[in-house]
Amino acid sequence: MTQHTPGGIAPRIETTTAAKPAAFQAFQRIVAEALLHPDDQRLVLAPDPALQAEPTARLTLAYRGQEAIGCIASFRDRNGCLTWLTTLVVARTARGQGIGKRLVAEAVADCDARAWVPPVIAATIRILEDGTPNHASAAAFLAAGFVVASRLRPRIVDIGPRGAALWDSAADDGSILQALAIRVPAGGGL
Ligand SMILES: CC(C)(COP(=O)(O)OP(=O)(O)OC[C@H]1O[C@@H](n2cnc3c(N)ncnc32)[C@H](O)[C@@H]1OP(=O)(O)O)[C@@H](O)C(=O)NCCC(=O)NCCS
Repeated sequence: MTQHTPGGIAPRIETTTAAKPAAFQAFQRIVAEALLHPDDQRLVLAPDPALQAEPTARLTLAYRGQEAIGCIASFRDRNGCLTWLTTLVVARTARGQGIGKRLVAEAVADCDARAWVPPVIAATIRILEDGTPNHASAAAFLAAGFVVASRLRPRIVDIGPRGAALWDSAADDGSILQALAIRVPAGGGL
């Protein structure tokens, strides 16, 4: 059945390996365009190009026609214990139409479908300067069953898709804060 949204026909969502060049280029383009805007520069980091060579990395992309208008990436951590979702971005002209929520839901479904048992999935949500979370991002993750586990201060120790940061909790020095959101599948646990 065709779904309709305020922006027209609902976009199609597809998940592939990040090794697919066209998908990775579309992913980079969506993020690069968002990063032209100062508001988005506070919320998103440019993706690490090494993600493309990360064997566990997947990209979930939203398309309207041939145009990619939204993305989220996933990869398994170094020990294979956690799957991370990262770089949730919807093109500025397509926001507020439910695409962010669909991207998170589809990426989670892809992770579940590919693992032996549904994995524990983690994501970080930026906390803004006034202490409030990035509401749109938080809403998209909470709707997919994530709970906020902790507020964290990222401390970069290793650049790369398999381990980019160590996380300190209880940051109180005004440094950029993130909230750690975790989705623990029913019947599963850490
Ligand atoms: C986060 C983002 C991907 C959400 O995409 P989206 O397609 O606009 O989101 P949706 O339309 O699915 O809406 C998701 C929820 O956010 C809410 N929302 C959307 N825009 C919002 C805004 N500006 N302020 C507060 N809430 C907002 C919606 O109401 C919805 O919640 P609800 O269903 O409970 O009402 C998009 O805003 C974005 O690309 N932001 C910049 C990049 C970013 O912040 N990425 C996340 C990094 S952690």
